[in-house]
Amino acid sequence: MQIHTNFSLKNYNTFGIEAKAKEFVSVHSSDELIEILQQKPTSKKFILGGGSNMLLTQDIDALVIHLDLKGKKIIDENDDFVWVESQAGENWHEFVLWTIDQNFGGLENLSLIPGNVGTTPIQNIGAYGVEIKDTFVLCEAIHIETQELLVFTNEKCKFGYRESIFKNEIKDEFVITSVVFKLTKRNHILNTSYGAIEAELEKQHIKNPSLKDVSNAVIAIRQSKLPNPKELGNSGSFFKNPVILKSDFEKIQQKFPDIPHYVVSETEVKVPAGWLIEQAGFKGKRFGDAGIHKHQALVLVNYGHATGQEILEVSKTIQKTILDTYGIAIEAEVNII
Ligand code: EPU
Repeated sequence: MQIHTNFSLKNYNTFGIEAKAKEFVSVHSSDELIEILQQKPTSKKFILGGGSNMLLTQDIDALVIHLDLKGKKIIDENDDFVWVESQAGENWHEFVLWTIDQNFGGLENLSLIPGNVGTTPIQNIGAYGVEIKDTFVLCEAIHIETQELLVFTNEKCKFGYRESIFKNEIKDEFVITSVVFKLTKRNHILNTSYGAIEAELEKQHIKNPSLKDVSNAVIAIRQSKLPNPKELGNSGSFFKNPVILKSDFEKIQQKFPDIPHYVVSETEVKVPAGWLIEQAGFKGKRFGDAGIHKHQALVLVNYGHATGQEILEVSKTIQKTILDTYGIAIEAEVNII
């Protein structure tokens, strides 16, 4: 394992931000991870997966441990279900395609989400009516301080909307090294009720979609709305969709009757932040090299040489405007470093 010093992270974050790590090492197995943790007990550590959900606003004054653990396999199966395990460093989308190629169902709606498998439980990634928690069985994780290996079952992860125990109670304490999903082998339960998927399948004249058809529809929708990080730096949705009290929502609705919303519970309503940001006039705007994507206002982009600070400033301007206009506080979904 080679430890690099003063290492550029530009190619390790999908925003494409230039920032330096004081020290940087790639690990390829749990053993290598444990070895480096034992070798550097006192160094501050920063765990890096696919770098797809963070905004670097400064250099990282720590040992950056890049998780490059590879491998995926079937660990159990019966007539109806299969249990597949993936190491943390596998690319998420490639993993999803591998499951679909074998006709394993459950992850097709989550096609083309950037990032690595090991980081998907942290924010319970979700798209088009499906979340990771629907198929997640367990993950293994190593405690950074003690190097003890623990198993986190679905229940233990305390999943919520873009939330889990790994973002809250035990934030930064563990490194997820592998994840197990339970997928269907037959009688697949397709989730095509999300409007955009239905419309896309109809457009392609597909009546009885296969897993691959649903995946392809999701890929087509994402490609039409979301920028490819390889072409335009971004971190997907920059903000979470705010969940607000129904009573507050009703007051806002009187002033803005067109405001879209989804009922979350008897007392709560979720509002699409993308709509709020678009209505406030930010969609497609550019401030130097930082901007708001022209097809999806929830996505902030780096046109080339934006700094993390510049993108952070844009995000704060958006937050303030939304608060002043609608009285709604929107929170960042990406981790601000
Ligand atoms: N909308 C606008 N203007 C915009 C964007 C959205 O008016 O610029 C409106 C849409 O018309 C629609 C509503 O907002 O009525 C919802 O839009 P969309 O279906 O695009 O989804 P979203 O709520 O903006 C969420 C996820 C995405 C995920 C999509 C599809 C969050 C924070 N984001 O976006 O996830 O792909 O749903 O399920 O929940 C990500 O997390 O990185 C991500 C891309």
